[in-house]
Amino acid sequence: MATTLDINIRVDVLEPAELTEQERRAMQLAREAANDAYAPYSNFLVGAALLLEDGSLFKGSNQENAAYPSGLCAERTALFAVSAHHPNKKIKLLAVTARRRSESNFIPAMPCGACRQVMGEYEHKQQENMPVLLQAPDGKFYRFRSVADLLPFQFTKDSL
Ligand code: THU
Repeated sequence: MATTLDINIRVDVLEPAELTEQERRAMQLAREAANDAYAPYSNFLVGAALLLEDGSLFKGSNQENAAYPSGLCAERTALFAVSAHHPNKKIKLLAVTARRRSESNFIPAMPCGACRQVMGEYEHKQQENMPVLLQAPDGKFYRFRSVADLLPFQFTKDSL
């Protein structure tokens, strides 16, 4: 008799006023980072911000390329830069938002599968949850308390 696993994924759905001060700062930086996106092909501007354990904030944006697959999403641009510059500092929060170039309102950008995999790698490496705060529909926010909630059944180095 087959068994079925029910996977429970937790997501906090937050009004702007319900963000913590640190979350507010990180989301604000993600919004500013979207302005730096190099996205001449999609005109879809994505901003990411990382809060480190020492309170410092770093930003990233999507970087496109005429050879389309050579570009990189905002989340991985930010994560790789932080890992390169601060390899031993834990990441306390990743905030992501987006907007279309022609519009000023921020819209949801759910991280792609490759970005979730990269987030999962760094969460695993730091042995501590890496919460992810995403712009959600209707001006709300989604707070995932762990990357594992964004990417269940993750492939990790433990399998190698
Ligand atoms: N993009 C991101 O930067 N992050 C996401 O979470 C989704 C997609 C970028 C890649 C590309 O530059 C543009 O958005 C359109 O796909």
